[in-house]
Amino acid sequence: MQTISRLGVVGCGLMGSGIAEVAALGGLDVLVAEGSPEAVRSGRRRVEASLDRGVRRGKITEAARDAAVARLAYTDDLDGMADRQFVIEAVAENREVKTGVFAALDRVVTDPEAVLATNTSSLPVIDLAVSTQRPAQVIGLHFFNPVPVQALVEVIPALTTSPDTVLRTRAFVSEHLGKEIVQASDRSGFVVNALLVPFLLSAVRMVDSGSARAEDIDRGMELGCAHPMGPLRLLDLIGLDTAQAVAESMYEEYKEPLYAPPALLRRMVAAGRLGRKTGQGFYDYTA
Ligand code: 3HC
Repeated sequence: MQTISRLGVVGCGLMGSGIAEVAALGGLDVLVAEGSPEAVRSGRRRVEASLDRGVRRGKITEAARDAAVARLAYTDDLDGMADRQFVIEAVAENREVKTGVFAALDRVVTDPEAVLATNTSSLPVIDLAVSTQRPAQVIGLHFFNPVPVQALVEVIPALTTSPDTVLRTRAFVSEHLGKEIVQASDRSGFVVNALLVPFLLSAVRMVDSGSARAEDIDRGMELGCAHPMGPLRLLDLIGLDTAQAVAESMYEEYKEPLYAPPALLRRMVAAGRLGRKTGQGFYDYTA
């Protein structure tokens, strides 16, 4: 089996930057692609700020940070992915955008054995697999936010994914990224979001109906059930736009009312109150 040393990460937002950071710390040569020079600059800032924070908090040494920075390269041109052996797509949770990235990667990546993985939270992996000429090498690889902290990665073979791709992906995740694996089938939400999203949406409905305040709902789950953060704080961390997109895909798949994005969530997204990343969500982060 070929050793994987050259990773590509497409998208350098919250998830892509975390994946790139973990992979570089794990010793991989990482090329990160973003859509524009400005997006490349802010993606790079996000990765480097997180590595610096790791040094400040005593998680990694300065030498480890410097080595990781040296292993990271950035581009605004997907053609740069040509020599990659494994590529993880982590762009916005939008079917058309992701399908476009997979079709482009299929044209560009030269190694016929390369694995093309998607960090989708809820879209069918099969839709991305069939947008390439190599559906046997396409697989879901779902990370959790913040990526450097959360130990889990869900591995999701599509109907077309070969057993060899699954084996190589599992080995790559545990050996190079140091993450634990749960394998799930290609059903919207996989294991974790299928359970988590209805819980988060129920908390939004509780705020909307006026039955409890956001602070009390969060305090209830933090102190009553030992969750590290309550559901509304967690929504602010995930991003309300991402949560809405995930809920929409899950609702489309199951037609289950518990997955339908509540009106309040839609209104907050429309208002641009997306959580931490915009400074306001269920809580204010501008101070
Ligand atoms: N990078 C690296 N380390 C980080 C970090 C980051 N971005 N954020 C926090 N940490 C580390 C800190 O260094 C600290 O480590 P230490 O205790 O060893 O010093 C530890 O995590 C705790 O951090 P803080 O003290 O700053 O803050 P908190 O104690 O409030 O923890 C949290 C923050 C890690 C986000 C914690 O609240 C948590 O785990 N929350 C739940 C997150 C969760 O459920 N994520 C899954 C979301 S669902 C998802 O992503 C799927 C998608 O499809 C929707």
